[in-house]
Amino acid sequence: MPAKHSVFEKVGKKFSNQRISARVRSMAVSAIKEMSLLAMEIPGTVSLAWGLPSFETPLAIRQRIAEELLTNPDIGKYAPPPGLPALKAKIAERLAREKGLPADPQTEIMITAGGMQALMMSFMTILDPGDEVLLTSPGFSSHYEQITLASGEPVGVPLLEEEGWKLDLDAFRGAVTPKTRAIVIVNPANPTGTVFKEEELRELARLALERDLYLITDDPYEVYMYGGQKKFYLRSIPEVRDRVISCSSFSKEFAMTGWRVGWVWAEEGVINQMLKVQDSFVICAPTISQVASLIALQGSYQPTLDMVEEMRQRRELICGRLDSLPELFSYQKPEGAYYIFPRVLPPGLQNSVDLCVRLMREAKVVAVPGSAFGPTGEGHIRMSYCMSREQIGEAFDRIEGWWRKEKRVS
Ligand SMILES: Cc1ncc(COP(=O)(O)O)c(C=O)c1O
Repeated sequence: MPAKHSVFEKVGKKFSNQRISARVRSMAVSAIKEMSLLAMEIPGTVSLAWGLPSFETPLAIRQRIAEELLTNPDIGKYAPPPGLPALKAKIAERLAREKGLPADPQTEIMITAGGMQALMMSFMTILDPGDEVLLTSPGFSSHYEQITLASGEPVGVPLLEEEGWKLDLDAFRGAVTPKTRAIVIVNPANPTGTVFKEEELRELARLALERDLYLITDDPYEVYMYGGQKKFYLRSIPEVRDRVISCSSFSKEFAMTGWRVGWVWAEEGVINQMLKVQDSFVICAPTISQVASLIALQGSYQPTLDMVEEMRQRRELICGRLDSLPELFSYQKPEGAYYIFPRVLPPGLQNSVDLCVRLMREAKVVAVPGSAFGPTGEGHIRMSYCMSREQIGEAFDRIEGWWRKEKRVS
C-alpha cells in the first residue's frame, strides 16, 4: 500500500505488497525523486523538480582532491566511524568563529553521508514505534518518509500561507500530545523558502522545554538568505542546547551534492547512541568525500558567495515569470533557500499529482506535487530555481504555451 501521494503509484509502477514490511509499504519515494526519475524516461523535459543546483563543485576542491587521491595512503580506507578528526575540528572551529556556538568536536559532532543520513539517524535514535514528530506543513517531503521508516508518525502542523508561510505557534502547541517526541524545523524552509524569525523560534524552544521535546534542526540552505537577515540558532538558547539535534550539510553550501557529506551535532550522550546507528548503516561517511569537505572549509569562500548571488538573481527571474501567469498561480515570495511553492488557482487543476503528471507529459516541464509536502500542500506545486536561468526561462515559456492551450479547451 504505497502512500496516497505516490506519483509512481499513479503512473502504474509495480509495487510488491507480499512479504514487504508495513513500514515500507506505507512510505513513498519522495515525490521530488519520483518526478525527477520519471522525467528521465521522457526525452526533452526541463526539470524544476530537484534541488540540484546547476553549479559544479569549485575547481580548487576538485584539483586538490585529485592530488590527494594520488598521494594520501589512507584515502581509500574507512575513516573512524564518527568522522575524520581534522574535519570535525574544522567544523567546530567554524561554528565558534562564525556563529559564536561552541561545540566539542571530539564528543558532539559526527560526520554523516549527507544531511539526509544525519536526519535518518536522528529519527532512528530517538523514536519508538508510534512516537509523533511535529513538522511544518508544507515541509520537506523526505522528513515525512524518514519518520515513517523509523516507525514514527509525522504530524504536519500548517504554516500560515497568507502571512508568508509563518509558523502558527498556537497550532504547534495544539498538536503536542503525550506521544510527541520532537519538532523538526528547516530554516530557511523547503519548500516555502520562509526564514523563520527569532521570536517564532524562541516560542518553539519554550514549547520544547515545557513538553520535554527534542528540536531537530535541518539547515542545508542557511547561506541562501536574500533579505540580509541574521539567522537565529535554536542552539544559542542555553536552556534548550542539549535538546537540539542539528543536521547540516556540505551539499548546497559548496555545490557538493554528489559527495554526500553532512554532519550531526548533538550532546555527547545522544551522539554516543547515534554511533550505533551510524555503524549499522554506513560505518562511516566516504573518506574521500570527508577529505574533499575539509578542503572546502580550508579554501576560498568566494565560490559560495557567487552562488548565493546568482541564486538571488534566479529568484527574481522565477518570481517575474510567475507574475506573468496571474490566472494560473499566486505565490509568497521566498526569503531563502531556492524553492517557491505557488498555489494553483484554477479549481480544475488543483489536484497536484494530476497537474504535475500533465505538465510533465504535455508541457515537458517537471515540478513536484504539493501533496508530497504535508497535509496542507495540496493545491500547490514546488518549483526549484537552482537550475540555470536558461532552463528556468525555457520551463516557463513551455508552461505559458501549455496554459494558453489549456484555457482554449477548458
Ligand atoms: C530540507 C532538506 N534537508 C536535507 C536535505 C538533504 O541534503 P543532503 O544532500 O545533505 O543529504 C535536503 C536536500 O534537498 C533538503 O532540502
